Amino acid sequence: MADFLTAYSIQSWLESCPQGYLENTEYGHAAGEREPEELLRNEVLHTDSVRTTVQLVVGERCALAASSGLINAAPDEASKRFLATQTLDEARHVEIFTQRLYDLGVRKEDLEPTIEHYANPNLVKFAELLLEKVTRKDFVAGVVGQNVVLEGMAFHVFELLQAGSQAVNPKFAHTLTGTIADERRHVGFGENRIGSLIRENPHRKGDVERMQKEMSYYMLATFADSFRAAPAQEEMARLRRETGGADAKSEWQGVDLSALEPREMEAVLADTVLAEFKNRLERIGLDYQTPVRP
Ligand SMILES: [Fe+2]
Ligand SMILES: [Fe+2]
Repeated sequence: MADFLTAYSIQSWLESCPQGYLENTEYGHAAGEREPEELLRNEVLHTDSVRTTVQLVVGERCALAASSGLINAAPDEASKRFLATQTLDEARHVEIFTQRLYDLGVRKEDLEPTIEHYANPNLVKFAELLLEKVTRKDFVAGVVGQNVVLEGMAFHVFELLQAGSQAVNPKFAHTLTGTIADERRHVGFGENRIGSLIRENPHRKGDVERMQKEMSYYMLATFADSFRAAPAQEEMARLRRETGGADAKSEWQGVDLSALEPREMEAVLADTVLAEFKNRLERIGLDYQTPVRP
């Protein structure tokens, strides 16, 4: 417990995050970095960037509502304090991805209509499943839904986006670096805190496992919708090739992304996230449920 208290304290959050990897950043990236011209000019790429960023805002708004809502459902003080730091992390994520929408040219008065227009209905459903548990102050299901499922997904999506942006969009890649580090901390908390709660409440296993299966289905459906919008994927691959050079290689999970068809990329992402769910759930004493493939 002592290690848990130190690792997830506000003090260690201050040292590692605001005074650590976020020091000297502006909305998560270095001051003065801009979105690449090509992305602002090319209509296919521009629309795709707005659409992708909207999904990040939707996911992070859900994480903000969940982490703040779970503070008052937490059974112990250390978890409440950790969730308070997580709440600020998630609010920051909402802010930096919203700022990216402005950087892409979305006008402030068009923000909500833009989000409503592009939000993927499957992702919205995914968020609703989680927030329903939070509203009922169900801490066990809420933490598994948020810190294992939602953040396990976010972590890998961010990593994939970062690998794909490194060469063509350093500003966005840098923005993602801090969020990846944050999500790693959040996922670690979920695993550490929830294992003992599952052991103390074995009767909760069934419905928590059902929630994981359902949320996983909506996650896969969201991936399917995103990757099957092929024109943008092809444009992005072309841009990566043109930006060229040895540095332009975007490798993730040991595969060269530029060599993959969108469907193959979707499969790599889905398989990676599901394999991680399985490992993590096993470690906390839950049986992974294979979702239906959309
Ligand atoms: Fe987040
Ligand atoms: Fe998070």
